[in-house]
Amino acid sequence: MKPPEHIKHETPVSPVKSLFLERIGSEPEAIGYAPGRIEVIGNHTDYNGGEVLGAAVDMGIHVAVGMRSDGLCHFVSAGFEGSVDVPLDAIVPQEGAGKWVNYSLGVARILRDEGFPVNAGFNLADTSTLPSGAGMSSSAAIELATACALSGLFGFELDRAKLAKLGRRAENEFVGMPCGILDQGVSAFGATDHLVHIDCFTEEFRQVPMPAGCQFWIFNSNKKHSLVESQYADRHRECSEAFEILKPASPGSACLAHIDPSVVRSQRDKLGEVCYRRALHVTEENRRVQQAIEALAAGDLSALGKLLTASHESSRTLFENSVPELDFLVEQAISQPGVFGARLTGGGFGGAVMALTDERFAQEDGPQIVEKNFAEKFQVTPTIFHCRAGAGATTV
Ligand code: GLA
Repeated sequence: MKPPEHIKHETPVSPVKSLFLERIGSEPEAIGYAPGRIEVIGNHTDYNGGEVLGAAVDMGIHVAVGMRSDGLCHFVSAGFEGSVDVPLDAIVPQEGAGKWVNYSLGVARILRDEGFPVNAGFNLADTSTLPSGAGMSSSAAIELATACALSGLFGFELDRAKLAKLGRRAENEFVGMPCGILDQGVSAFGATDHLVHIDCFTEEFRQVPMPAGCQFWIFNSNKKHSLVESQYADRHRECSEAFEILKPASPGSACLAHIDPSVVRSQRDKLGEVCYRRALHVTEENRRVQQAIEALAAGDLSALGKLLTASHESSRTLFENSVPELDFLVEQAISQPGVFGARLTGGGFGGAVMALTDERFAQEDGPQIVEKNFAEKFQVTPTIFHCRAGAGATTV
């Protein structure tokens, strides 16, 4: 049996320097780095004012920048052909083939809107060690790496919370994706062997040590779903509608995630079936995040794992953002030795599953067994890899 793919645990800076040199023709003047993330638990709780627990991974995106004197923002990328030029004083979202620059471009625009001195054109090159389409938020990574690079180039400071909020603004207002703060918050606050706990209502970020002896595995279904963005927006809208309906029954609650699940149950008729399911998922999921924090504090990996698997079940049946490929990966993963729990990670509708395991999972060929069974059922080979909780965004 072919061993599953293992991604190298390193994020070397040399490829982005070489790319810059090759495509721009000079040495970069500043470099930013930001990691991808795993959503450990807290599915669609972030934009509902709830809590989430994530981990930055030890893979991410490097962005190298240098000044230009002609007022243009000039973009090249290891992942895309050609280059894109946008005048600094006319930054608007790009359409068509140049769309890939919108994450970096949006950050430049938001920095300028907020009065940071991004006051000259620049060259920008990026490289990535994040597996593409694996649901590990390469978009947040490129946003934060760009902000770090530009802060180095133009000489201003950004603290981690500011970095996370800027990245989210770029995504919400420029890219047009109504995401919460999870991806950017975890990428900003990541630390080696730590999880990041975010209270998305107060926007407080906290690093929580990972108990010894546990590992994260990612199973990328390689299932791409063309409607991900519109389905994410649908869920966002359904949650807002549910909150409006629930407000009179829970006047003290400032957001959907703060409402007690018993109130949601009592309002089922008023909510209608779809809003009922979405609201029950969000309110119960928020409690699962709080229980996960307690399990972590007690070092109880088996309790934590059960919460992860319960979260997936709720995504499958209530939030309806899973797909058969992800359900199968979860079923397969949790039936292997050494797996505490597994769930879809990120927005859903395709993408990846994460599992929390101990060392027995790899020792007893769990990854190979899951890979083989998945390939037999779906005629597609999943990409399976082990990753560690790594450092957060930084100017290199
Ligand atoms: C995506 C979004 C996040 C979050 C998750 C679901 O990753 O970018 O803000 O909503 O989905 O929890």
